[in-house]
Amino acid sequence: MDTLTTRPIESPFKSSKEMLMKNMMKLSLVALLSIGLLQAAEVKKEIDKETGLIIAPGFEDVKNNCTVCHTATLIIQKGGTKASWKESIVWMQKTQGLWDLVDMEEPVLNYLATNYPPNLFSRRANLKATLLPPNPYDKK
Ligand code: HEC
Repeated sequence: MDTLTTRPIESPFKSSKEMLMKNMMKLSLVALLSIGLLQAAEVKKEIDKETGLIIAPGFEDVKNNCTVCHTATLIIQKGGTKASWKESIVWMQKTQGLWDLVDMEEPVLNYLATNYPPNLFSRRANLKATLLPPNPYDKK
């Protein structure tokens, strides 16, 4: 006659520690996935091949007025608020022969402040006019 063997009954309930670990793993997976989705949602900016400028409202005016004397690199590496962009423009008008932008000034400033906002790696401040060589474009 068979002897009755007893087998410990396995609990259908996992230990709470195991449950916690599983939930933590699920949570971190969800977190990772959401970060991935957020990054994918960031819109790729279209760049003009000729100048390297971001194509956005005001781009044409900036390309036509601001890449005449120097490349767009000066713009791309600068970054600034609307006020500091205005300061740059006024400075170029006073010292570098930049013309009055008339009704293009507002779209130009909005384009610059929106697409090239202040950043950590902005260019140094302008040199004082007295530290610059004579302007060869000055008609005086
Ligand atoms: C008439 C010529 C001329 C035009 C047009 C011109 N610039 Fe300039 N700009 C200059 C010169 C010259 C310098 C060089 C100054 C230097 O090397 O420090 C300069 C420098 C700059 C700089 C670097 C100095 C700073 O202010 O941070 C920026 C940015 C800039 N220009 C943006 C623009 C923008 C935006 C426009 C269009 C609205 C424009 N430029 C149009 C002549 C011009």
